Amino acid sequence: MNVIIFGPPGAGKGTQSSFLVEKNKMFQLSTGDLLRAELKSGSNLSRQLKEIMDSGKLVSDDIINNLIEKKISDPKVKDNIIFDGFPRNLDQAKSLDLMLKKYEQKISVVFNLKVDYSILIKRISGRVSCSICQKPFNEFFDLPIDPQDCSNDKCAKRELIKRSDDNESTVANRLKTYDNQTLPILDFYSTKGIVKDIDAMKPISNVTDQILGVINDL
Ligand code: AP5
Repeated sequence: MNVIIFGPPGAGKGTQSSFLVEKNKMFQLSTGDLLRAELKSGSNLSRQLKEIMDSGKLVSDDIINNLIEKKISDPKVKDNIIFDGFPRNLDQAKSLDLMLKKYEQKISVVFNLKVDYSILIKRISGRVSCSICQKPFNEFFDLPIDPQDCSNDKCAKRELIKRSDDNESTVANRLKTYDNQTLPILDFYSTKGIVKDIDAMKPISNVTDQILGVINDL
């Protein structure tokens, strides 16, 4: 089964994806994480990407679709993918449909994480993530206590790191981009009857339970 975790910046897409990886052994395909991995390479492309990401705008569809197709075409992850942070606009959603058809797959459910925007700035400004497995934590709500809080034992030597786009002005732009370009694709999936609303204002474990409940009923 392939699923999309959908929601604004800071809604908890990465957090919930990491639980589905742990509990259901699914494969997380986060376009944000793939782009941040490219940033570390120091290539010409990485300098352009950093500028776009720090401005809160979207990276071009060509770059993103290319990254996505490389993963979707991998038989090891067939029908077991969590799309985290993708698609981000209508063109990406349509391209995803075509790619999935090409590789004989489909999306079973879109989890729509619903959160009041007032809480997002606090979630994002408190976000830190494990330097080894990238699992997100939060300085205000969810600091890791022991190595088991991460995905593997190697994380005992982790540092907790902050993202360069997690500052107030970039976040405001990311929210505008979400409202203008990303939110409209919910209609695209609603007409297919596969959107499930999730109350993502609840504590992290409750949100996970809501998601697992939907998956178990499918
Ligand atoms: P991306 O990395 O995808 O960022 P985002 O969508 O802005 O989402 P975030 O990662 O900020 O939030 P999240 O929902 O994953 O929240 P998290 O679980 O970390 O994209 C970054 C940039 O890359 C974009 O701006 C764009 O430039 C580019 N990009 C990426 N994909 C692209 C695409 N497809 N096309 C074009 N450009 C693209 O949680 C946040 C914090 O809250 C954490 O600290 C967590 O511990 C805490 N938290 C989570 N849930 C709860 C809860 N229930 N209660 C309390 N705290 C919680």
